[in-house]
Amino acid sequence: MPTQQSATIEARLSEQKSFPPPKSFVEQANMKDPGIYERFENFPDGFVEYAELLDWDERWDKVLDASDPPFYQWFVGGKLNVSKNCIDRHLDTRGDKVALLWEGEDGEVQKITYRDLYKRVNEFAAGLRALGVKEGDIVTMHMPMVPELPIAMLACARIGAPHSVVFGGFSAKALATRIDDAGSRFLVTIDGYYRRGELLDHKSKADEALSMADQEVEKVIVCTRHGGLREGTTLVQGRDVLLSDLVAEHEGETVEPVPRDAEDILFIMYTSGTTGSPKGAQHRTGGYLAYVTGTSKYVLDIKPDDTYWCNADIGWITGHSYIVYGPLALGTTSVMYEGAPDFPHKDRIWAIAEKYDVDIYHTSPTAVRMFMKWGREYPDKHDFHFRHMTTVGEPIQPMAWMWYYEVIGHKEAVIVDTWWQTETGGHLISNLPAIQDMRPGHAGKPLPGIGAKLLDDNGEEVGAGASKAGNLVITRPWPGMLQTLYNDDDRFIKEYWETFSDTRSKDWHDWVYRAGDGAFVSKDGYFRILGRLDDVMNVAGHRLGTMELESAVAQVEEVAEAAVAGRHDAQKGTVPDVYVILREGVDPSDAVRGKIVRAVEEEIGKFARPANVLFVDDLPKTRSGKIMRRLLENISNDEKLGDTTTLRDPSVPERIREQVGGT
Ligand code: WT7
Repeated sequence: MPTQQSATIEARLSEQKSFPPPKSFVEQANMKDPGIYERFENFPDGFVEYAELLDWDERWDKVLDASDPPFYQWFVGGKLNVSKNCIDRHLDTRGDKVALLWEGEDGEVQKITYRDLYKRVNEFAAGLRALGVKEGDIVTMHMPMVPELPIAMLACARIGAPHSVVFGGFSAKALATRIDDAGSRFLVTIDGYYRRGELLDHKSKADEALSMADQEVEKVIVCTRHGGLREGTTLVQGRDVLLSDLVAEHEGETVEPVPRDAEDILFIMYTSGTTGSPKGAQHRTGGYLAYVTGTSKYVLDIKPDDTYWCNADIGWITGHSYIVYGPLALGTTSVMYEGAPDFPHKDRIWAIAEKYDVDIYHTSPTAVRMFMKWGREYPDKHDFHFRHMTTVGEPIQPMAWMWYYEVIGHKEAVIVDTWWQTETGGHLISNLPAIQDMRPGHAGKPLPGIGAKLLDDNGEEVGAGASKAGNLVITRPWPGMLQTLYNDDDRFIKEYWETFSDTRSKDWHDWVYRAGDGAFVSKDGYFRILGRLDDVMNVAGHRLGTMELESAVAQVEEVAEAAVAGRHDAQKGTVPDVYVILREGVDPSDAVRGKIVRAVEEEIGKFARPANVLFVDDLPKTRSGKIMRRLLENISNDEKLGDTTTLRDPSVPERIREQVGGT
C-alpha cells in the first residue's frame, strides 16, 4: 500500500528507458494502425469494432444505454450465444484444428479439436439439461485445470446458465460461502487432480462444503481425472452424478445454442473486497465477449494459427477471459497445463513451450520472479521462440521485466503489461504492442475507448508528469465492465462509484469508477500502477482482503484481536503477516500459531497461508479505534514508521517493533 509520499519518491527514482517492438513483430501484428485510438474516441460507437468480431443472432439496436448510471447496458437488443461464438462458428473453417491443448502434470495429453469440443460441450449441455439445469440457473464449479472445466463453462453458456467458477485452491468453507451467495443448486467438481506427482483428493471439499452451505445443492456432477473414480472418493446417492455416466447417456446429442440477450448474465466471479464477504462480480454476455475478443486480438495479438498459452488458472478472471472466451472466440489453440511448474523438473514450462511451439506466452510477475530465482539454465535448455509475452496481476519490477525480456523473450518478443481487474472483464491499460514502445514497470496507455486518469483524495485531477501518485479511476463505461455485484447493487455503488461520483446524477459523465489502485502517469501518458490503496493485498497475483484474513484468524478461540499487514516478499510480491493479541491468560505458543495458520487454510485456502504470526500486546489504533495497518506494514517491512500522530497511543508501533524484532 504505497502512501502518496512514497509513490512520489518511487516516481522520481524510476525513469525507465523504452524498448521499441521488433520490426518482425510489427509487420505481422493484428493492429498496427494508431488511428484505432481516434476511431474509439467516437464513444461509444468505436466499440462496435469489437462487437463485429462476433456472430450475432440479432444485431443490437443501441450500442450503449447510459440512462441509469452506473447500471449501463451494452449492445442493447442484441442476441448471441457465447458457446456458438467460441465453437460452432469455427467448425466449417477449422473444425480439425486444436482448440484446447491440455497437458496433465503426469504427462497425459489431450488435443481437443474444435469438432471434439463441439461434441463434448453438447453432450455436457444435454446432461445439464437432463439434470434440471434451466436458463438462468447458476452452476458453481470447483475445479482444477482440467479440460472438463472450460467444457462445463461452455456447456453452461450454450444453455444460458450462468456459471460461477470457484478457484480449485479455495477451501470447502470458501466454496460454501460462494454457493450460498449465488444460490446455486448445481455443482461441478472432480475426484482429484495431480500436484507434484500425487493424485490429490478434491471431491471431499465439495462434500464438506455442501454440509456447511445453507443452500441446498440438488445435483453434483463429479468428473474423474482418470477413467475410474479415485480410490477413496465416495458418491452421495441421488445427489452425485458421474460425468462419465452422464455423457454416456447423452452420447452424440446436440443442443441448440440458446440466443441470449446481450445483457443476460454470462457468469459471476467472486473476488475480495475491503469488507469481509467476497463480492460476486457479475458479467454480461454481449459486451463481455466483445471486449475480451477485441483485446485478445489487438493486445494479445492472437491469430487463429497461433499456439497461445496463458499460464494462469481458469479459476481466476484471467483464465476466463484469456484462456477460454477471448482465445476460443478467435479460433486459436489455447494451451492448458494442469500441474506445478517445477514438476518433475524446473524446466517443465519451457519443455511445454518447446514441445508445442508456443507463440504467445502469458504469465504473472510472481512467476517471472520465481523463474528468475531458479536461474536461466532451465529456459536455456529449451528451444522455444515467443513472439509475444504478457504479464498481469501486479506491478512488475523493471529488473524482472528485463530478465523476462532477455532470457525468456530472447529480445525477440514484445511484452505487454496488462492492467485490469476481475471487475473490468478485460484489459484496460496496456500497450498495443505494435503501436507503442514498451517501458519496464509501466502498463502503458489506456486502451482504445478507455478513459483513465488519476485523482487525488479530494477528487482533483493529478496530471501527467506530476511527481505525485493518485487514485486510478475510469471515466467512461466500457463493454467488459461488471454489470453489478451479484444481488447487491448498493455495495456495487459503494465499492466502485461513490467516492468520486455525483451519485444523484443521471448523466454518466458524473460517474467515475474507482479502481482502488494507486498509479503515476508519465509526461507522455504511460501509466505506472503502484498497487492497492485499500485494505486489499495482492499475494502472488491473487487478491486477498485483509478483512477476510482477519476474520478467519479471529475465529481461533485464543485470539482476542488480529490485524493483517502485507510484507514484501522477493518472490510472491506480498505475503500476509498476522499480528495477534491473545486472550487473557493465553501464552504465545507454536500450538496457537499452528491453529491460526490452519484457520486461514480452512477458511480461505492454503494459498492464503500467513507468512508470520506475530504475538503482540497492542495494535496501533486511531482515536476512533481504526487499526492503522499501514504502520504494521512499516514494521513488517523494516521501514521508517509513517505518521503516528493520529494514534491514540503513538508509542504502540515502536513497542510492537521491539516485541517482534528478529522475526
Ligand atoms: C488487481 C486486480 C486482472 C487479472 C489478475 C488480477 C493488480 C492487475 C496489474 C498490472 C500492476 C496490476 C491491481 C488490480 N494488477 N494487473 N499489470 N500491473 N498491478 O485480477 O484479482 O481482480 O486483481 O491486481 O492492483 O487492482 P484481480
